[in-house]
Amino acid sequence: MEVSEAIGSRRSIRRYKNDSIPPEFVDKILQAGQLAPSAGNLQGREFIVVQDSTTKDRLSDAALKQRFVRDAPVCIVVCTNLPRTKNKYGSRADLYVLQDTAASVMNMMLQAVDLGLGTCWVGAFEENRVSEILKLPQGIRPVAIIPVGVPDEVPDMPERLGAEIVHYDRW
Ligand SMILES: Cc1cc2nc3c(=O)[nH]c(=O)nc-3n(C[C@H](O)[C@H](O)[C@H](O)COP(=O)(O)O)c2cc1C
Repeated sequence: MEVSEAIGSRRSIRRYKNDSIPPEFVDKILQAGQLAPSAGNLQGREFIVVQDSTTKDRLSDAALKQRFVRDAPVCIVVCTNLPRTKNKYGSRADLYVLQDTAASVMNMMLQAVDLGLGTCWVGAFEENRVSEILKLPQGIRPVAIIPVGVPDEVPDMPERLGAEIVHYDRW
């Protein structure tokens, strides 16, 4: 698949078929996350792969009861690892680790499209509850839950702002 086709056809998928996902597909998606750029190549990010149904159920509750989090066969919780980047970059690291995670999330979502899978970037959740469910150590913050599954819907593309947000040479 062309990159432009993956970018253009990716949609947030919130309904999944019951089919499971082969482990090699999960590995490929994780590898795509690893290959994303990061500040100083410090890779201030961590990936927690959740397949246990009780844990997914609890994550779904923590994500304001967004049920598709529970229904997806796999969820990848992407976290920042601030200590890994902070030593080198000080206060800039707060922004860098968020960018490190965002870049990896997008790579993983596009890789999933190429594998015929659907994802959704879930950012609405109670952070403390997710941290507790996943036993995250100090300094590790969950920023996105990415449910992954075989799509069971074909959503329309939500409108984009287009030229309104593009500026040339100055604001
Ligand atoms: C930071 C962030 C947080 C998001 N959180 C949620 C969420 O909690 N639940 C959800 O259903 N979609 C969530 N989304 C998905 C957006 O709603 C979606 O990307 C947007 O409506 C555009 O649709 P598209 O992804 O199909 O292009 C989030 C997206 C981003 C980037």
